[in-house]
Amino acid sequence: MIESVFMNKIIHPEISDIIVLPNQIEAVKASSRKIIEAVQKNHEVSITYATGNTMIPVYAELAKAVKAKEVDFSNTKAFHLDEYYPYSPQGEFSFVRFLNEKVFIPLNIPESNRNLLDGTAKDGYNEAKRYDALVSRGIDIAILGIGPGEHIGFNERNTPFDSRTHLAQLSDETVYRDQVERGQDTPGKALTQGIGTILEAKSILMIAYGENKGKYLKNALYGEITPYSPASALRLVGDKVCIVIDKRAADILVD
Ligand code: F6R
Repeated sequence: MIESVFMNKIIHPEISDIIVLPNQIEAVKASSRKIIEAVQKNHEVSITYATGNTMIPVYAELAKAVKAKEVDFSNTKAFHLDEYYPYSPQGEFSFVRFLNEKVFIPLNIPESNRNLLDGTAKDGYNEAKRYDALVSRGIDIAILGIGPGEHIGFNERNTPFDSRTHLAQLSDETVYRDQVERGQDTPGKALTQGIGTILEAKSILMIAYGENKGKYLKNALYGEITPYSPASALRLVGDKVCIVIDKRAADILVD
């Protein structure tokens, strides 16, 4: 039960809910609890799932809850945020593969309820258009992380706030993280839900822990609201945004 854990809030002029947990483990529990409660309330909820290291323990918590029969995701609709392009879903670093292994299979989400970006599509522009139409039917919760250059999804610096799902050129920072720091042989392009697409979700849950993420968030939450900081766009719809962070990120944020 998260009630027993020390939980602090940061008051922010635009973002309605910034929750600080003492450590990563508690931040993971608190954010997965939010997702579980949303599914318990509405069995047919539509969820956009980010991938990445931040999400691995969160999705593992969801899988535990499903195993314990606490929650049933089988009628929920799943969407993903982004996928390398061109890239095969069987590729080691494919986001489709990540979601299959960590979300769709453990949470028993049937194939008919999975809405995937096709990294093998011949025409990336048409694929983005096709996917945007699907997402535009309505997302209840968009789960987001934050990455280099304060990106959300693969919306890098200077992506317009009204952008729709598109084929994006990854920034040098993101390519460095992926290819050098993480040793991935992934391409420098990706299909991603646009910032405008993401902001249309009925609610947005961003999860971040650690000092680096605190630095990204500090710029995004307290700097200028500008396409130069893609995550700063969340402040335009702050009344439906919840950000869950750990103390290490929070210490940077309030410094
Ligand atoms: C992944 C995504 C990215 C990540 C971000 C943080 O689907 O859209 O925006 O959320 O790059 O990645 P991690 O969690 O690996 O640090």
